[in-house]
Amino acid sequence: MRTTSAVLALLLAVSIVNGQTTKFVTSGYGTSIQTFSVDFSQGGELTLDNEQTWDLNLTFLSYDASTGSLYAIHEVDSYDDFENSGAVSRWTLSGSDWIQNEVLSVEGKGPCHVLLDKESNLLFVANYLGGSFAVFQIDPTSGAILQNVYSEQFEYASGVVPDRQADPHAHEAIVQGDNAYVIDLGADRIYQYKIVDGTIQKNGYADAPPGVGPRHMALPPTGNLAYVMNELEMSASVYEINEGTLSHLQTIPYTVAGADPAVQTGAEIEVGRNGNFLYLSTRGDGALVVFEIKSAQDGYLQQIQELKTLGDVPRHFALSEDGKNLVCGTQGANLIEVYSIDQTTGMVTFLTSETTIPDPTIITYL
Ligand SMILES: *[C@@H]1O[C@H](CO)[C@@H](O)[C@H](O)[C@H]1NC(C)=O
Repeated sequence: MRTTSAVLALLLAVSIVNGQTTKFVTSGYGTSIQTFSVDFSQGGELTLDNEQTWDLNLTFLSYDASTGSLYAIHEVDSYDDFENSGAVSRWTLSGSDWIQNEVLSVEGKGPCHVLLDKESNLLFVANYLGGSFAVFQIDPTSGAILQNVYSEQFEYASGVVPDRQADPHAHEAIVQGDNAYVIDLGADRIYQYKIVDGTIQKNGYADAPPGVGPRHMALPPTGNLAYVMNELEMSASVYEINEGTLSHLQTIPYTVAGADPAVQTGAEIEVGRNGNFLYLSTRGDGALVVFEIKSAQDGYLQQIQELKTLGDVPRHFALSEDGKNLVCGTQGANLIEVYSIDQTTGMVTFLTSETTIPDPTIITYL
């Protein structure tokens, strides 16, 4: 009896470990989307579950498990009848296929980022090409995109890097509590907002150092610092947050052996789950870069690793929920790359890779 239950307990433990697959979707500058299962306990083994043809240029995605809604932006100049505007849409699973629900104009060309904030039930969209920004109200129960509650056309561009900063280029919107930020690569600025009564209000902006081209921001689980990946030079910046107002503290370069700074462009940034390490991806000579997060006296950030990715354009990556793994979409090589992360040292180790759709631009866990 005792033996039987011990065996049963062991079998159960084994099946839990083996059954731990995580699902994610990837899409890119094309008409396909793929759903993968990844088994981190089995060396990151990847299984393609589903491939589907979608609209053109579905790029960034944001998923809400509580309603099963996948929000997607359509990175085009004019989507169907929306003149001079891309679109945002919501998708839900029917069997193994995604079906499209609402589609709304984003009031600007070439959207590149979408973020659902569950707390405020607002959906934020940054329009890179048009240099604008839009916010939508979401139905908390169904996840439906109800209406546009705010939009703003940015006017200012820094012009420091002439071919990239002649116009405003909103690259990402990010939320922390009742503060929202829009990072503008063309302006070298981070616009600040307050979330109030189901919409947002302007709250000034912070300057980034001239010409760095801020792209994406990462916020640690605790504390009052924000980290920003710069696209136009090989650096990340540290900002202090004081009641929703950012101030630049320091910009810290990273190195990738043999990389030509003139063609190197920063991409993604994420803080490790334990708050001790910062993960970056950089394109050109594709690499993952790891910083240890230090105290102010020790200079905030210290690079501890650079690891070349298999492909050259690691445009996006996402840490797993427990922070022990990282999945990267390498646009330049049409690859999904899986890595493990040592929780003590922070270091990243390559596990496996799989060919995927052309130009994967996002990894979104389901
Ligand atoms: C898809 O997005 C890319 C990147 O913004 C852009 O260069 C391309 O023109 C877009 N395709 C279409 C059909 O709009």
